[in-house]
Amino acid sequence: MLSVVPSPVVVRAPSKVNLHLSVGDQRADGYHELTTVFQALSLSDEVSVVPAKALRVSVRGENASSVPTDERNLVWKAAVLLADAVGREPLVDITIDKGIPVAGGMAGGSTDAAATLVALNALWELDLSREELTDLAAQLGSDVPFVLHGGTAVGTGRGEKLLPVLSRNTFHWVLALAKGGLQTPAVFRELDELREKGSPPRIGEPEELMHALASGDATALAPLLGNDLQAAAVSLLPQLRRTLRAGVTAGALAGIVSGSGPTCAFLCADSDTAVAVGAELSGAGVCRTVRVASGPVPGARVVTSESIG
Ligand code: C5P
Repeated sequence: MLSVVPSPVVVRAPSKVNLHLSVGDQRADGYHELTTVFQALSLSDEVSVVPAKALRVSVRGENASSVPTDERNLVWKAAVLLADAVGREPLVDITIDKGIPVAGGMAGGSTDAAATLVALNALWELDLSREELTDLAAQLGSDVPFVLHGGTAVGTGRGEKLLPVLSRNTFHWVLALAKGGLQTPAVFRELDELREKGSPPRIGEPEELMHALASGDATALAPLLGNDLQAAAVSLLPQLRRTLRAGVTAGALAGIVSGSGPTCAFLCADSDTAVAVGAELSGAGVCRTVRVASGPVPGARVVTSESIG
């Protein structure tokens, strides 16, 4: 008799960089009102799911040991949330292959959660629409809807309300990964404290940046990159100042802290420059390691899914 062994559904999902991240006041629910422009980058994670007798999460790749594999993992929460929503048990084995730095400000955990929603939608043949998945994604975290959709988009509210942004051409990035991580809530708290003590500059509205994206001109885009959380990340990890300077000295058009950090993202004129900047930065002793990436890329998507006999 032919026994059918299900092969895993594998979903690839991107990281993100915030080209623009303006942080408003803290709301009654503890979140901050944001206006942000996200871009999805080619540095990605893969999530595989197969049916199992119980929910199990495992993590492979760099720094995998620092990622929890129980109900604290956003992937676990995603599986339970989706299973509850459709009235079934989350009986799956989930494997995460990390390419995105852990606690790096590049949405790694959110990416895995978005990937899990897409993977289980396929595995369980649920046929949920992108809108239905987006509603679930927003319950899991502020960045999850964006990494589900990918591309380039403006996010408001907590960052979860999205509108696509016209972006021409591919942009080339170098990512400098820091030695430690930064916890997002601590970085937002630090910004609140900096604002209580003084008035760190605010980056304002992203209109000009949107025009630069539509023109596809990296040189026009570079001086418009901005992140209100950068001052807070640098305040918590002052060595980031050196990293940011080193990338520009190495030939990048501009550098910013990615999201809540501590990864620094450097926009380069083209892919050859990005490789050269990456090589120079990795020898400069200002970061743990470097990656070259490009964007925009699509959001979470199935890369393989088939049953073998
Ligand atoms: O939404 P998410 O769970 O990813 O957010 C993590 C933390 O980051 C929140 O608990 C909050 O401290 C902070 N945050 C915020 N304002 C936002 C998004 C996140 O203060 N708009």
